[in-house]
Amino acid sequence: MQTVTDAAALRAAIRGWRTAGQTVGLVPTMGNLHAGHHSLLKLARDRADRVVASVFVNPTQFGPGEDFERYPRTLAQDQAGLAEAGCDILFAPEVSTMYPFGPAASVSIHVPLLTETLEGAHRPGHFDGVATIVAKLFNLVQPDLAVFGQKDFQQLRVIERMVRDLSLPIKVMAAPTLREDDGLALSSRNQYLSPAERARAPQIHATLIQMRELFVQGGHAWQALEQAASARLQRAGFVPDYVAIRRAEDLGAPSVDERTGLVALVAARLGNTRLIDNLIFD
Ligand code: PAF
Repeated sequence: MQTVTDAAALRAAIRGWRTAGQTVGLVPTMGNLHAGHHSLLKLARDRADRVVASVFVNPTQFGPGEDFERYPRTLAQDQAGLAEAGCDILFAPEVSTMYPFGPAASVSIHVPLLTETLEGAHRPGHFDGVATIVAKLFNLVQPDLAVFGQKDFQQLRVIERMVRDLSLPIKVMAAPTLREDDGLALSSRNQYLSPAERARAPQIHATLIQMRELFVQGGHAWQALEQAASARLQRAGFVPDYVAIRRAEDLGAPSVDERTGLVALVAARLGNTRLIDNLIFD
């Protein structure tokens, strides 16, 4: 595996693959990689001849007071894991490569509507930062396909919308969420949890499962389900930002008689750590 930090070297390597008729998959990450990221890489590996993974802690998707400064940066460890997972190129640019005019002066991509709810409502500007950096990575790599985790469900939908609206010739693929044995979704932010918080954290997944069970058993009053789930999380020591049942397609609020194609999404704070998760009601 080659590690590349500048755009020209990245483009030159990819040009060589293209000349040889090979397809390219991209796995964008912010590093501090775990088994969940490695599963994204495996999906890309299975579907493309060559795989590029990017590691870049993107400043424009963090709001004031969020964890940009303390976000774990573990490049040497990430390199070893990616090489083992069969990555061909690790692209690990500096901020000045991705934002030549500085993050504050960057062109910004805004995906309307979808970004105004849930995460977008609680983290203003977050999805502009995500869409902007992903568009920049897409322009640099020009992949045939790109893989994103389903754990960041809204992010996945935002990127799909951007790709479609901008007519980008890229297949966006979703990789299922990997979980610990107790149900906690794998996330780089889990390491911020104290032992006591870690013991409570699986309550998010347990609550989502309970919501789905109640819904399947006929409890279709989804607003009541949301309220009960939020109360359950609060009793377990969480401070929920939202607990929501939405249409999986466009994250709109379902109508009273909608029974299929729904997803439950949660964002909740446990101490200083903000966790998100979701479950499709299939
Ligand atoms: O999901 C992430 O890790 C990030 O939001 C992404 C897609 C790499 C953009 O910085």
